[in-house]
Amino acid sequence: MTGTPPPLDLADPAVVADPYPAFAAARAQAPVQWHEGLGLWLAFTHAEAGAVLRDRRLGRIWRDREPAERFGSFNLIHRNAILEMEPPDHTRLRRLISTAFARGHVERLRPWVQELAGQLVDGLVERSAGSQPVDVLSGMAEELPVAVIAELLGVPGADRPLLRPWSNAIVKMYEYGRTTAVEDAAERAAAEFVAYLRDLAAERRRAPGEDLLSHLVSVRDSHGDRLTEDELVTTCILLLNAGHEATVNVSGNGLLALLRHPDELARLRADPDLLPTAVEELMRYDSPLQLFERTATEDVEIGGVTVARGQKIAALLGSANRDPAVFSAPDTLDVGRTPNPQISFGAGVHFCIGAPLARVELQATFGALLARTSRLDLGATPHRRPEFVIRGLAELPVVLTR
Ligand code: HEM
Repeated sequence: MTGTPPPLDLADPAVVADPYPAFAAARAQAPVQWHEGLGLWLAFTHAEAGAVLRDRRLGRIWRDREPAERFGSFNLIHRNAILEMEPPDHTRLRRLISTAFARGHVERLRPWVQELAGQLVDGLVERSAGSQPVDVLSGMAEELPVAVIAELLGVPGADRPLLRPWSNAIVKMYEYGRTTAVEDAAERAAAEFVAYLRDLAAERRRAPGEDLLSHLVSVRDSHGDRLTEDELVTTCILLLNAGHEATVNVSGNGLLALLRHPDELARLRADPDLLPTAVEELMRYDSPLQLFERTATEDVEIGGVTVARGQKIAALLGSANRDPAVFSAPDTLDVGRTPNPQISFGAGVHFCIGAPLARVELQATFGALLARTSRLDLGATPHRRPEFVIRGLAELPVVLTR
């Protein structure tokens, strides 16, 4: 089962910069292929990537990083995370979190998010004044989701600048080929984040508010079950991290895609009713999260291969989203595309809890960018970050004209 050359060469910067041609070539060969370098199977097609996420024999099986004393906090915030659990533990925790989420938090925020998006765009327009390129990534794409998830959870304004550096350091652990320095920084960030949230949760326990953290502190299901202290802290960290790491990159990747397709940008500007389908299409066209792993709990036949018990298989979401068996003209950006069964929010029991919130944020972001400008132009060649799993830009210089 050796596959040479590798079906996806992540050591090649050109592949990381634009993996879509490599995905197309791999899809044309076989839906599932072994990657010797990564030591796992890769599922390239929509059907097989979806099956990886849905098949209950392919689980999210968390294994603590070794040595335990070096990764104490990093392990704690994964061992207790719903993202790393399987039923029945997952079912129990997901029910509690969904109950807290269902208290109208997302709809309550919609007008607030729209107003914030408008303010951020106005600030960018002022700084750009129709001639100066400004970085939309730091000036808006990063700002908005962090502010929204912090508001939702009730993190005090003064503490919000702490969140993104902690989160960025932790998620670097999900990439391949990490250095020791990256691992140490992730553990440090996890320890600080845990300590911070233990204090904040204690405060909310003493004096509850109307925020999601207060509701998570007090939530009980119909059997009287509730979150443990470690589950509570972990859930907050997961929501804070997951709540912006992907959204940032849909805004960045998506705006770049529109700037490179001026006809589609003009079409959306002329018809803002297309915003909902446009957001789905931008998530499909350049997915912010490319790869999710599962481990086989027994031998599983998938895409013509057997994933042996204990082996790993990864769903490649960006590849699935360009599968010509499901999407006509998959490499064409079409802001009105319907139907659009893109799988950037995942599938199965782990389907993204934050999808409704992310859609509110992204529609507000692109809505404000178009409603408050008459022109948007790329100001310089944007640089991509060199990571594969979390796919995004380092900066996106744009000239905005009122
Ligand atoms: C465009 C933005 C987003 C994308 C593309 C995205 C994508 C995903 C994906 C693919 C998964 C499933 C991972 C897997 O199956 O292994 C997931 C799970 C999750 N997401 Fe999101 N997400 C986004 C925004 C958000 C937001 C805003 C929040 C928080 C409010 C959030 C919270 C979560 C949580 C808690 C899970 C774990 C669910 C579970 O394990 O049952 N996400 N997300």
